[in-house]
Amino acid sequence: MTTFDLVIVNAIAVTACDVFPCSISVKDGKIAAIASQGFSQEELAGVEVIDAEGAYVMPGGIDAHVHLCQDLQTGPHGLGGRCADDFASGSMSAAAGGTTTMITFACQTRSEEDASLLSVVERYDARAKETGSYIDYAYHVIIVRCDEDVLERELPILSGPRWGISTCKLFMTYDSQRLGDSDLLTVMHAAAQHGITPLVHAENGDMISWLTDKLEAKGMLAPIYHAWSRPPIVQDEATNRAIAIAKLACTPFLFVHVGSSEAMAHIRRAQTQGWPVYAETCPQYLCLTYNDLKRFHSPTCFENSKMVCSPPPPPDESESERLYTGLANGTFTVFSSDHCPFRYDDRHGKPTGILEHEESKRGGDCVSKEASAVSLDQLVRTKTGAFRFIPNGIPGVETRLSLLFTNGVCAGRITLQRFVELTSTNVAKLYGLYPKKGSLMPGADADFVIWHPQETFSPFTLSNDMLHHNVDYTPYEGMRMLNWPRYTIVRGHVVWANGSLATGAPLGRYQKRGPNVLSSDWKKRGGGPAKQHPAPWLFE
Ligand code: URP
Ligand code: ZN
Ligand code: ZN
Ligand code: ZN
Repeated sequence: MTTFDLVIVNAIAVTACDVFPCSISVKDGKIAAIASQGFSQEELAGVEVIDAEGAYVMPGGIDAHVHLCQDLQTGPHGLGGRCADDFASGSMSAAAGGTTTMITFACQTRSEEDASLLSVVERYDARAKETGSYIDYAYHVIIVRCDEDVLERELPILSGPRWGISTCKLFMTYDSQRLGDSDLLTVMHAAAQHGITPLVHAENGDMISWLTDKLEAKGMLAPIYHAWSRPPIVQDEATNRAIAIAKLACTPFLFVHVGSSEAMAHIRRAQTQGWPVYAETCPQYLCLTYNDLKRFHSPTCFENSKMVCSPPPPPDESESERLYTGLANGTFTVFSSDHCPFRYDDRHGKPTGILEHEESKRGGDCVSKEASAVSLDQLVRTKTGAFRFIPNGIPGVETRLSLLFTNGVCAGRITLQRFVELTSTNVAKLYGLYPKKGSLMPGADADFVIWHPQETFSPFTLSNDMLHHNVDYTPYEGMRMLNWPRYTIVRGHVVWANGSLATGAPLGRYQKRGPNVLSSDWKKRGGGPAKQHPAPWLFE
C-alpha cells in the first residue's frame, strides 16, 4: 500500500474553476490524490496530517514580479548598491505570505561587462545559490541592449534546456534601461522567434524627463512630485505604442504593473480584437493613492519616499476601483507584487554628516531611500534634483495574497476562483510552469496555501513587525487584514505554519520554464497574425 508523506483533510479546495470539499494526499513532493472524502485510519497511519478545519486550500501563490539581490542602476547620484532582500530573506517573506514560487529578475546593465546576457544570468544565479531560497524560483532576464549576439546566439541558449528562461523584461523608461521603438521591435521579434514572452514596462521616458525638469525648475522636489512627473497619460501613451509595436513584431506579450485605467482600456481593446496581449497589476495600484505619498509628517517630508514606485500609485480611489473591474473582467491576467525592497533607515534628527553618511551608504551592500534623501538634501540646496534620485520600488511579496483576499474576495469584488487564477494558475500558464505549478491535479507539485477558516479567524491590523522582509517599513502599515495564510507548503514541505517559518536548510529549487501556453494556439486561430498583421507581406 502507498504510504503518503502528507495528507490534508477537511479542506475546501479552490481552483481557477471549482470550489469543492476534499482531502489531498502528497507523495514524493507531488499531489498523489484528491478525494471527496477523508482517508481511512489505515491510510493515515504514520502520515503527517494537516486538518484544514474547513478552510480553503489553493495552489500555492506564484509571484512573477520580485526583485531580489538586484543592483540599483547607478543614476546621476552614483549611489549604486543593491536592493534590500536577498534570496533568503525575500523567499522567507514570500513563504510567510502564502507564495510557493517566485520569478525574480536577472538584470543586464549597459556596461560592456554585461554584453553577455548569459553571464548576467550566471551572476544572479550565483547570488541565489549563495543563500538558497525557501521557495521555488525562476528568472526573467531584463534586456537593456540590442546586441545581435544576444538575440541570435544567447536567447536560444537561455530558453533552452540549461536555463528554461521563457520571458524577458523590456523598459520604455529609465535612462539606464530603456529601449527605443526600433530596438523594441527588434528585441520583441527576436524573443518571439525563441518562444520568449516579452514583459513591457510601459511609461513614456521622454514625457517623464520633460515633466521632471519642469517640476524641478519650479522647486517641486518632494516625493509626491515623483507621481506628478508620471501622470496616467505617461502610461497610456506608452501602452498604446507598445501594442502597435508588438503587433508589428508579431508576439504575445504582457504589460507589467499597469496602474492606469486608460492604459487598461487600450489593453482591453486589443484583447477584444483577438491580440494576445496580457496584463499584470499589483497591490500598490489598488491599495495606495497619491494621498499615501503625502501621509508622513508633512506633504513635503522625505519619509514619503517610502511610497515611491514606478508607475506611481493612482491619483485617487476611483481609479483603483476601475482597476478592480479589470481584475474581475479578465483584462488583467495576473496579480504580482513588484516587490522591489529598499530600506528607509530613518535618520531624522541623527547628527550624521552628509558626506560621511553618503560614504557609509555607498560602501554598504544595500541602498536605502533615506540615503538618497541625504544626498538630495545637498542637491536641494544646490538647486538640482530631488525625487528623481529616490530608488523606485516598494516591498510587498508577503502582503500580496492577503491584500487581494481581503480587498478582492472578502469585499466581493472578485470570486475565489478568479483569485486563484490571478495569483497562481494564470501565472503558471503564462510563464511556462503549468500544470506542474498553479494547479491542484494529481501529479502536480504539492504546493499549497491554506487559509484560516473564515469563521474563526480574527481580523488584524497589519504592522511591519509581523513581516519577514529585510525592509524597515511596509506601505500597507495599519491596514485591516481579513485573513492570512495559515500554512504554506512547497512540494509537500511545510514552510510556514501558524505564524512560524520552518527552520532548516532552504529547499527551494530552480524551475526551468517552458513557453507561454495561454496563447499557444494564437498563430493557428482564424484571425491570426497573417490575416491581422499590419504588414502581411512579412509572412510571404
Ligand atoms: O518602482 C518600481 N516598480 N521598481 C521596480 C523596477 C520596475 O520597474 O519594476
Ligand atoms: Zn518595471
Ligand atoms: Zn519628516
Ligand atoms: Zn518591478
